[in-house]
Amino acid sequence: FMPPSKNKSSGGAIAKDALGTPIKKEEYLKTHPPGSRDLVQGLNGEPTYLVVNDAGELETYALNAVCTHLGCVVPWNAAQNKFICPCHGSQYDRTGKVVRGPAPLPLALAHTKVDDDGFVQIKPWKETDFRTGEKPWWK
Ligand code: FES
Repeated sequence: FMPPSKNKSSGGAIAKDALGTPIKKEEYLKTHPPGSRDLVQGLNGEPTYLVVNDAGELETYALNAVCTHLGCVVPWNAAQNKFICPCHGSQYDRTGKVVRGPAPLPLALAHTKVDDDGFVQIKPWKETDFRTGEKPWWK
């Protein structure tokens, strides 16, 4: 029997890289420059973008990479400063807000938080969506 961890009881998860290794913020920032958006495993192992802001700090939000149209994983296009879905051409701005359909909704948000050991935690976002001013559609 394993007692539930603190993470699970608070509905969060430690972000992991493609190999399943937990991500430490300081290490991550060494290899991810300002403006980068790169995929990690987030809540429930879902593909999630960690965002490094222009000041070189980890953003307090992460973006679920699943397209809100039909569920393709949406790549970040640094040259165009947008997320562009390869499946049907939806586009999202750098914060995950839709700038071109057919996607009906922005990319889902999650919170990022660095725990006492320096690991990046991903937590559910239940508050107002700061991009639209609306309640989260992903709850
Ligand atoms: Fe992304 Fe259709 S799944 S545009």
